[in-house]
Amino acid sequence: MAVSRLVVLVSGSGTNLQALLDAIAAHPGGPEGFGAEVVAVGADREDIAGLERAEKAGIPTFVCPVKGYATREEWDAALTAATAAHEPDLVVSAGFMKIVGKAFIDRFGGRFINTHPALLPAFPGAHGVRDALAYGAKVTGCTVHFVDGGVDTGPIIAQGVVEIRDGEDEAALHERIKEVERTLLVDVVGRLARHGYRIEGRKVTIQ
Ligand code: GRF
Repeated sequence: MAVSRLVVLVSGSGTNLQALLDAIAAHPGGPEGFGAEVVAVGADREDIAGLERAEKAGIPTFVCPVKGYATREEWDAALTAATAAHEPDLVVSAGFMKIVGKAFIDRFGGRFINTHPALLPAFPGAHGVRDALAYGAKVTGCTVHFVDGGVDTGPIIAQGVVEIRDGEDEAALHERIKEVERTLLVDVVGRLARHGYRIEGRKVTIQ
């Protein structure tokens, strides 16, 4: 079976990236057994732990800061080209805090997944944890989904549920969500890679 090539996009601490790297390394069958390997890590900013994790693992990195380009379209084209250069089968947005544009979606739509720290369609956007707390929700969680042209609107692949504790703050809740999120992301990426999948409208079936 072919090993799926993953490009992972990060903006911050990169613990979801690390979970993927660890799961692939710990699999008794290595990348072949897991079904996928991380071939490159991309970021929208320098000097983040996510890039350090990639470098430590000997994985090529690239950085495309929005401010480095005259227009958002030029940035999107550059990010698309830098990602495409690594010939990914799947692109994983793992805490990548930028909305990509049309060129990126045209190129990678249907094989671009994101992890979001809330139970979509509730609480999309950059503050999913804060918004769930402020709303007074009793449960929240995380969602792994395919990315479409909207903000956290694409077909859902899998979700994990986390109960909100009384008096909990955003940071504590986000940490507990991320524990569930890392396991979910590793599980989803492995299953997509090993089994293949179909997207029909909003329905995702892992084969
Ligand atoms: C995750 O909770 C992700 O859903 C959110 O940012 C966090 C990234 O964490 N958008 P890390 O960089 O993988 O540690």
